[in-house]
Amino acid sequence: MYNSVVATRSGKTPSVKSSPAFADIQRAAEFVRKRIRIQPEIAIILGSGSGSLADSIEAPTAVPYARIPGWPVSTVKGHAGTLVAGTLAGKSVAVMQGRVHFFEGYTAEQTAFPVRVLRRMGVNVFIITNAAGAIHPDFQPGDLMLITDHINLLGLGGANPLRGPNDERLGPRFPDVSRAYDRELQEAAWRAAAETGLFLRQGVYAGVAGPSFETPAELRFLRGIGADAVGMSTVSEVVAARHGGMRVLGVSVISNRANLDGSHPAEHEEVLRATQAAVPKLSRLIESILRSLA
Ligand code: HPA
Repeated sequence: MYNSVVATRSGKTPSVKSSPAFADIQRAAEFVRKRIRIQPEIAIILGSGSGSLADSIEAPTAVPYARIPGWPVSTVKGHAGTLVAGTLAGKSVAVMQGRVHFFEGYTAEQTAFPVRVLRRMGVNVFIITNAAGAIHPDFQPGDLMLITDHINLLGLGGANPLRGPNDERLGPRFPDVSRAYDRELQEAAWRAAAETGLFLRQGVYAGVAGPSFETPAELRFLRGIGADAVGMSTVSEVVAARHGGMRVLGVSVISNRANLDGSHPAEHEEVLRATQAAVPKLSRLIESILRSLA
């Protein structure tokens, strides 16, 4: 179903299948469409420990990922694995409680499959959240960081979700990502923060493969190349969303201070605790942004 290169014994050009197959995306979109009562305009991905934001959704319909054909299922603690559709702050939304990651063994394009499906269903605004380690020296666990740009270290290293033949029905061969994170949505987030009295950071998110946390030398490298926070998700989803022409807003929940001097080892439990503690703030921010959108 996904990208597969068929090597030929004769040494001729290998045949490469388009990935992900349009028919698979279509099938999953049809499956979800039949089970939810609304046509979502906005999709939200909730990262590690943030899934409870979906509890505020009115008239919710929940579809377990495992039931949706082709939809990848998370193996990570803190990722519920349910798509919840309904109304949030007056908007029709589809909320992903949990996601899959490259480090679980999925390819970059598989991690972006849900984005493709939601696009097919008519979603045009994507709010992507994650847990991230602080690299900027001022950032503290519990802070919310608006993502202004990213450094896709997976993609730069060859694991771009758009690798392989391009299907023009999904987007262009060479999509522009110079404005990956929508300016107007960022402005809406700043206004929402001011209205709700929330303190917000902004910065550049570095997407790495994981699952090992970074060494102090790697963190100093990330700081050197301009990253303010680091995490193991998001970048492939954003590339696929931009490929499909969606507008993207990214918010990181700073879950731990990066260990630049080797004095404080990072732990997944710490990441989950800090993120769960920040959920009320994240919910307030997202609901206020949703209310402000036309
Ligand atoms: N590094 C990478 N990914 C992360 C971190 C981190 O420190 N915290 C949360 N996700």
